[in-house]
Amino acid sequence: MKVYLKKESIEKHKTGCMVVGVFEGKKPEGLAKIIDKRLNGLVSKLFKDKDFEGKPNQTRLIYTQGRIPAERVLLVGLGKEKEFKIEKMRQASGNSSKAVRDLGLKKFSTVLAQIKIKKVPDYEISKAVTEGAILSLYDFTNYRTEKREEIKRVDEIALLIEKESKEIKKGLDDGFKISEAVYIARDMINHPANTATPTYLSEQAKRIARKSGIKCKVLDRADMERLKMGALLAVARGSDEPPKFIIMEYNGGKKGERPVLIVGKGLTFDSGGISIKPSEKMEEMKHDMAGGAAAICAIKAAADLKLPVNVVSLIPATENMPSGKADKPGDVVKAMSGKTIEVISTDAEGRMILADALTYGERYKPKAVVDLATLTGACIIALGYHATGLLGNDKDLIEAIKRAGEKSGERVWELPLWEEYEEQNKSDIADVKNVGGRGGGTITAAAFLKKFAGKFKWAHLDIAGTVWEYNGKPYVPKGAVGVGVRLLVEYLKSQG
Ligand code: BES
Ligand code: MN
Ligand code: ZN
Repeated sequence: MKVYLKKESIEKHKTGCMVVGVFEGKKPEGLAKIIDKRLNGLVSKLFKDKDFEGKPNQTRLIYTQGRIPAERVLLVGLGKEKEFKIEKMRQASGNSSKAVRDLGLKKFSTVLAQIKIKKVPDYEISKAVTEGAILSLYDFTNYRTEKREEIKRVDEIALLIEKESKEIKKGLDDGFKISEAVYIARDMINHPANTATPTYLSEQAKRIARKSGIKCKVLDRADMERLKMGALLAVARGSDEPPKFIIMEYNGGKKGERPVLIVGKGLTFDSGGISIKPSEKMEEMKHDMAGGAAAICAIKAAADLKLPVNVVSLIPATENMPSGKADKPGDVVKAMSGKTIEVISTDAEGRMILADALTYGERYKPKAVVDLATLTGACIIALGYHATGLLGNDKDLIEAIKRAGEKSGERVWELPLWEEYEEQNKSDIADVKNVGGRGGGTITAAAFLKKFAGKFKWAHLDIAGTVWEYNGKPYVPKGAVGVGVRLLVEYLKSQG
C-alpha cells in the first residue's frame, strides 16, 4: 500500500472519493463548510435532518455530481471538537478507510491530516491518520484459495494538505513504519501453529533483523542445555518442534548505554501439555506467541524509526505439548537462575519460559525490563478485553507505560503486586511452584516472574485479553491485534 502527501486544494482535487472529517455540532464548520457551500448546502441539510451530525465514527457517502472534481465525498464524524483525543482520529481514519474499501475503490484521498487541533501537534494528527487507515485495511488472506479476485483492496491513499509541512510528512512516515511492524506481528499471530513454529519465528526474526539493521542470534536446544535453561527446556520437552531462543539487539543509543530489555512469550502452540486444556477453543492457543511477535516487531519499529535508544528483545519460543517425554505435574526442575520450580500445572508454562529469558537478560544490565505475555486466563476475568494487565516493581516505569498506553490507544490497567501474593507460590519441596491457587491468578503469575526479574526495574504486561479481536474495531479487524507494538514504540520514544 502506498500512502503519500498531495498538496492541492480540496476544491480542485480530482479523486474517486475524498474523505472529509466533520466535527459534531449544529452545522458544518471548517473544511466541511467549504464542501457544504460547493454542494449547495447538502451537508447542512444532512445536519438539519439529523442524517449525519459528525458523531464519532459516523460515515455518510455523498455523490458530488460534478460540483467539485472529487466524484464522491465520504463524510466521517470526529465527535465534539472540545472532546477531541488522538484516538478519535485513528478511529475516524480507520472507519472511513474501510467504508471506501467496501465501495470497491482502489484509491482515495483524505483531508484528515490537515485538520488543526489546539495543543495537538500536526505530527500526531498525521501519524494517527496514517496508522488508522493502514491498520484498518489489514486483512489476512494467505490461506484462501477460492474467489481471491473478490477480495477488495485499497492500494493508494493520498493525504491532502494545504501547504508543505515537515511535521506532517514525518507523521506519515513514522505512522507508516509503525503500521508495517504491526502488520508483521498480526501475520505471525494469525498464521496457524503448523506454519508459525519456533523455527519459523526465528527465521522471521532473522529476516526482519537483516532488513532493519538489527543484530540477531538464535540459540537452539544444545545452547539452552549448556546455559542450563531448565525451565524452558522442561516446557519444550513434550514437543517434536525444536525450541528456539531469539535474541535481537538494536543500538540506536549511545555506545555503552544500558539497554531497555523486552521479553516476549513465544509459545507457538499451548495445548496445556499433560495438564491438557479442554478441546473447545483450543485452536485459539496459536496466539500464545503474541508477546514474542510484539517483542520482535517493536524492536523492528524502533530501528526503522531510528529511535535513539539501545534495545534488546529476547523471545523464548517453543510449543507446549503432551507426550511420553513431556514434563509432568509434580516434576521439579531447575531454572537457569538456579532456583528450583515445582510444576503444579504444565499449563502454567508461560512463566517458566519467561523465567529463563529474564535470567538470560541479566547479562545486559538493562536499565528497564518490560515483558509481554498471554500469560493468564485470569486476566480476562479481571479486565475483560479492553485493557492489558500491568504489574511491576518500579513506579516510574509503570507510570511511563501507562502514559504510552494512553498515547498509543493500547490501554493498560495496573494490578497490585503486594508481597502478600508471593505466599501463594510457596512450594513444600522446591523454591517456588508454578501455580499459586485460584485467587488473583494474574497477580500470582506476575509474583512468580518477579522472582526472576532480579533487581532490575521491571514491568509485566499480561495481554491475554487484548491479543485477539473478536468483533472488529475501527482500526482493528477481527483476528490478531498486534497489541504491544505501538505501546512499546511509544514507551521507547519516551526513553530517547
Ligand atoms: N496461554 C495461557 C493463558 C491464556 C488463556 C491466554 C486464555 C489467552 C487466553 C497460559 O499458558 C495458561 O494456560 N495459563 C493458565 C494458568 C493456570 C494453569 C495457573 C490459565 O490461565 O488457565
Ligand atoms: Mn498454558
Ligand atoms: Zn500459554
